[in-house]
Amino acid sequence: MNIEGSVALVTGGNRGIGLAFVDELLARGATKVYAAARDRGTVPDRDRVVAVELDVTDHARVQALAEELPDVDLLVNNAGIGLGSAALDPNAVAAAREELEANYFGPLVMSRAFAPVLKANGGGVIVNMLSMLSFLTADHLATYAASKAAAWSLSNALRLELAGQGTAVVGVHAGFVDTDLVSALDISKIPAAGVAVAALDAVESGVSEVLVDEPSRRAKAALSRDQELVFPNSVSSIQETAERPTKIAFIVDNPADPDAFESGYGDLLALASKLPGVQRIEASRVWPKEDGSPTPAYRLVDLYFTGYDAASEAVATPEAAEFFPRVFELATGGVRIAFADVEES
Ligand SMILES: NC(=O)c1ccc[n+]([C@@H]2O[C@H](COP(=O)([O-])OP(=O)(O)OC[C@H]3O[C@@H](n4cnc5c(N)ncnc54)[C@H](OP(=O)(O)O)[C@@H]3O)[C@@H](O)[C@H]2O)c1
Repeated sequence: MNIEGSVALVTGGNRGIGLAFVDELLARGATKVYAAARDRGTVPDRDRVVAVELDVTDHARVQALAEELPDVDLLVNNAGIGLGSAALDPNAVAAAREELEANYFGPLVMSRAFAPVLKANGGGVIVNMLSMLSFLTADHLATYAASKAAAWSLSNALRLELAGQGTAVVGVHAGFVDTDLVSALDISKIPAAGVAVAALDAVESGVSEVLVDEPSRRAKAALSRDQELVFPNSVSSIQETAERPTKIAFIVDNPADPDAFESGYGDLLALASKLPGVQRIEASRVWPKEDGSPTPAYRLVDLYFTGYDAASEAVATPEAAEFFPRVFELATGGVRIAFADVEES
């Protein structure tokens, strides 16, 4: 779509990224830009800009606006809020609802109301201002991230549903942008103008998703391995570790008194076999070296368990309290003990 000659509507067009959209639309020759704001008096004066009053959570007002502005062919769903709430914060449910109202239901209701207007004007484009937090989440941004993930899903759904009427839908993801929204965060940020430029380049070249900066590109690229790369302590990776076959390996070094070791060895294996959860025992004797020099170890004993959890539980039982002291008593040359993943080929 050519922005020159277009008529755009930008929600939250009074400041931040929304105002950057307004300026970039003007620079590219839009005929008219409706800059929507909750208080239209806060929209800076610009030639070709018409300030309109809109709270995107007021659905009746959204519908009325769609009737008032029949010439729109480019809708930028930019308005949004971030309340900085973790999922377990006391006010998380209220914050999540408020963010969903602005960041998800806002674009949903706007897109539904303006879809017929865009259709009547030849198809047009909807731009949805999303975030790298559509792809990942973070402490104290949990409820915001959920709203942006929902809006990302919505963008993809709208693209499918509106293709038939020739309306393109562009999702714009960015990391931290230098606006009031994140002014409290002491972190590197990109300028709002860069977001508007990248988004409108995509509109003009027919690209459906824009990853504006390196953080958003990395977040999207990590998606197929997010549980390993982004959320290493997630429930599923912990679960996987707990369920991977595990052995407790004993490497018994050459004992000071081999005879004493041999006389107690049978009992030691019997005690090992009583450990709760042990599946099988593999014990082996290291061959003596032909030249008579000391071998790297004397005996190897492996106790197999179904998983890491089962092995950890076994070592905390009364049976283990009998077994381990006996190991240390007999292994007079020392013993190395390791928990190990069993890698099966
Ligand atoms: N800054 C970032 O790091 C960043 C990164 C990725 C994505 N984003 C997204 O980019 C968009 C713009 O954010 P920003 O950084 O420019 O934030 P901002 O400086 O805080 O501006 C937010 C804008 O949204 C408007 N708004 C909020 N709730 C509204 C509602 N219910 N109805 C109508 N307008 C409403 C605000 O209007 P008022 O002036 O009336 O409050 C303001 O114009 C948001 O969707 C945000 O989630 C921001």
